[in-house]
Amino acid sequence: MKYLIINGSPRKGNTWKLVVAAKDNIRRVDSSATFDEIHLIKEGLPFCCGCSACFRLGHEKCPHSVKIIEIITSMERADGIIIASTTYFMRETSVLKNLFDHLCFMTHRPHFFKSKALIITTTGGVGGGQAAKGISSFLKSIGFNRCYLFSTASYSWNDYKINEKTGLRLSNVTGRFCKDVLSGKLHSPSCLLLIPYNLFRGMSISYAKGSEFETQDGVHWAEDHRKNSVYDSSVHVPLYKKLFGQLFYIIGKFAGRKMTVTYKKD
Ligand SMILES: Cc1cc2nc3c(=O)[nH]c(=O)nc-3n(C[C@H](O)[C@H](O)[C@H](O)COP(=O)(O)O)c2cc1C
Repeated sequence: MKYLIINGSPRKGNTWKLVVAAKDNIRRVDSSATFDEIHLIKEGLPFCCGCSACFRLGHEKCPHSVKIIEIITSMERADGIIIASTTYFMRETSVLKNLFDHLCFMTHRPHFFKSKALIITTTGGVGGGQAAKGISSFLKSIGFNRCYLFSTASYSWNDYKINEKTGLRLSNVTGRFCKDVLSGKLHSPSCLLLIPYNLFRGMSISYAKGSEFETQDGVHWAEDHRKNSVYDSSVHVPLYKKLFGQLFYIIGKFAGRKMTVTYKKD
């Protein structure tokens, strides 16, 4: 299987030591494993400038589209994605957040339905779990099928050593991630994920082509394979979740009519 490592830390420090250990664990479970690496700090991705072109016109119109499309393509090609980030004040690094800002349009138009992630964070003492949860919450909102979280306190600025207990814990999480990637199984989405998915599906009708404030959301959700389905067709959704999703689609349709998100047209 092909694994992509996205290093959101601005250096190869404590967090990277765990990534190296995770790679060894993966090789033990998946002898065919190959690894690609993206070190975000070296990508030179400018800050998201907030133009909202991705939301309104499509991400191809982002001023940084060349770099962003390159990263999206690498993510699409991977069977498993490892996201590493140091904890900076209980959150992911600004380098990783900058990538997430560029992918925010996918919270309106989720995309990575086949993707599974292993998230690795370290922290000096506190907040690592919170950082990992924040990363997971973002990835799920852009479609990720499953996220495995690993976080530990390094109690060190630059001299962290993995002890036996942490090594075992990492091996356990990595093993579960790897077996899931190998299985190719896609898990049914949680009700919590079906809410925004179907609200956007419903609201997008008000932004369809030809409407006053048409957007790319309107184009995306009007596509045949998408407009009548409570989730991406590659993922099985049981009947009770279908009914639940459909309810939020109706709420979204209603909400879309009641409030319009405008933009300047000149
Ligand atoms: C800018 C900055 C912010 C940090 N914020 C926190 C924090 O909120 N909580 C904490 O316990 N440690 C914090 N730390 C410590 C690092 O999270 C910790 O040393 C981490 O293991 C370093 O990982 P790295 O070597 O991969 O960069 C911070 C460090 C830096 C440089």
